[in-house]
Amino acid sequence: MIPSPTQDFAGYLREVPLVVAPMADVTDTPFRRILRRFFPGLLFTEMISAEGILHGSEKTFRMVETVPEEEAPVGIQILGADPTRVAEAARLLIRYRPAVLDINMGCPVRKVLKNGSGAALLSDPKRAGEVVRAVRDTVDLPVTVKIRLGLDHDNAEDVIAALFCAGAVAVTVHGRTAVQLYRGPADRRRVLEIARAAPLPIVVSGDVRTEEDVREILSGGAAGALLARGILGRPWFAARALAAARGSAPPPRPSCTEVIEDHLDEVLRWSGEEGIRAFRRHLVEYVRFHPRARRLRHALVTAQSSREIRRILRDLSSSFEEE
Ligand SMILES: Cc1cc2nc3c(=O)[nH]c(=O)nc-3n(C[C@H](O)[C@H](O)[C@H](O)COP(=O)(O)O)c2cc1C
Repeated sequence: MIPSPTQDFAGYLREVPLVVAPMADVTDTPFRRILRRFFPGLLFTEMISAEGILHGSEKTFRMVETVPEEEAPVGIQILGADPTRVAEAARLLIRYRPAVLDINMGCPVRKVLKNGSGAALLSDPKRAGEVVRAVRDTVDLPVTVKIRLGLDHDNAEDVIAALFCAGAVAVTVHGRTAVQLYRGPADRRRVLEIARAAPLPIVVSGDVRTEEDVREILSGGAAGALLARGILGRPWFAARALAAARGSAPPPRPSCTEVIEDHLDEVLRWSGEEGIRAFRRHLVEYVRFHPRARRLRHALVTAQSSREIRRILRDLSSSFEEE
């Protein structure tokens, strides 16, 4: 039997060595519901600001609202700088019954760094450890951390040592520094080297787009691979990646237009016509590989209503299935 990530995170990763990344404005409730069709493993919410929780921001609470009723396991990622405040936010989040809590120490956005949160914590391993310890001491849930190689230079091993001592159960490492943002290829070789020497399970993040990527990461000494941009516009890749991880046959590809229509239904159920604007970023991704991508993209992002989007999708369905 597969252990739950809450009871035994390392044991869980041995059985399901893939995790769906937290992605701001992407891994929202409608997208998680679509992903669930393809992936039974651990998914993350968008990052949740500790200050948003502590200030009672309705918008922030809405991001986690459905977690208790979603088919487990769902993890919540917290963004914050101050150990006491992050721990207090964690305490308020446990009623949403997340499987695990993750601390964001990788966000490179300037405003976030200015507040001392996200990747800013990488420049102070002691403080990074204090944040983990404060959360561990406050809630009875496994704490994982997502880091980059460093803020402006690679100090990942020092950070990981501090996080391990503070009680983190696993660390995800994105193979770029924060100042690199998303430029250039992620340094997978370096992350695997770190994984092989680390005292706790390491999940590798960066450019995981093919089944071969998954196999390379898992055979290279990592405990898991993180699916992020590789599932944008193709959530079914999560099922293919899991099959690759388990050495089983790839599942059949679903109808792309059906997935988009179902995703649109979830968006409408969750936020009504108002959700269309945020849904556009998914639409652009879904049509990225379509032969008429440019024209379609324009039509879809200027569509003003779900009716208009459905009309474009109907015209499109035959050419999509031919792909
Ligand atoms: C749109 C977008 C939003 C993201 N939001 C978050 C986030 O909220 N928290 C986080 O830890 N990482 C976030 N990331 C980083 C990803 O989790 C991942 O580490 C990164 O994209 C590298 O993996 P990839 O090359 O496979 O996409 C985000 C990435 C993207 C593209």
